[in-house]
Amino acid sequence: MSELAQVLRHLVPNEDPRALVDASTGDDAGVYLLDEDRALVVTTDFFTPIVDDPYDFGQIAAANALSDLYAMGARPLFALNLVGFPRKHLDDGTLGEIIRGGMDKAREAGVAVLGGHSIDDPEPKYGMVAIGEVHPDALVTVGNARPGESLVLTKPLGTGIVTTALKEGAASEEILALAVATMTTLNRGACEAMLDADVCAATDVTGFGLLGHLRNLLRQSGIGARLDTSQLPLIPGVVELVEAGHVPGGTKRNLTDVQDDVEFAPSVSETTRILLCDAQTSGGLLMAVREERLAGLLQGLDGKAPVAAVIGETTEGPPGSIVAE
Ligand code: CO
Ligand code: CO
Repeated sequence: MSELAQVLRHLVPNEDPRALVDASTGDDAGVYLLDEDRALVVTTDFFTPIVDDPYDFGQIAAANALSDLYAMGARPLFALNLVGFPRKHLDDGTLGEIIRGGMDKAREAGVAVLGGHSIDDPEPKYGMVAIGEVHPDALVTVGNARPGESLVLTKPLGTGIVTTALKEGAASEEILALAVATMTTLNRGACEAMLDADVCAATDVTGFGLLGHLRNLLRQSGIGARLDTSQLPLIPGVVELVEAGHVPGGTKRNLTDVQDDVEFAPSVSETTRILLCDAQTSGGLLMAVREERLAGLLQGLDGKAPVAAVIGETTEGPPGSIVAE
């Protein structure tokens, strides 16, 4: 859990029995029970531009905000825009393009945008509040994984590396297009396949990287995991960017942060260790699926998610421990 999440947890003691999921578990969204058949799922996310094209940025920010609903198995209902933008640049059309990207992505997801809020801000920021619904019995959380399940990831890793290389003038148009394509892809199809396969534990891979988000899922479920790093799906070309030194600060911090819980086999290269911790934006769903449902899940993901990679399996523990081979 991030330091901020820990602070929030102390600031808002939660005694409402209808609050099924709050900030204490590191789940992707809060969940609030309406009646025995319905729960509201609520999340928000916003950030500064990570690509130069404002329309792409808007799409990425919207797909990223909606992703936390999909990670909980929820159906998105509606959203609100959150905007920070420098007033003196308001008339240059950039903000309009950001919002248009967000609106188009929301429309693709079947989500109505009902309003929002904007402030004057020297550094542009965009994101959304997203609200969805779920049947309480169908809720997917980070605490429901069991030992002996397969770990499946639905998008390739490396978006943090590519966007950092972009800032450093080192990303080719080809690799940028690949990264933008994965970041603008909704996790809707992955979520549908997940629900069809009765998966009950998942999260999406974002700022803490694959290992950080996996560790939280394992801790909350009280189990461990073994990863086969030869199966990691990667954006083609990111290995070369890492080797050339284009690594975000957040990714390095993620690696330091998980070190005590991860046992790397000597064969796992420094580059792979960095990619395992790369801070993702609008990353894929990471699911734990029972052995007998794995084939069905992979079939369901085919054509509905950018990739369907079986990257390892859960083990008895210790809780939160990861062996990477
Ligand atoms: Co999330
Ligand atoms: Co989030």
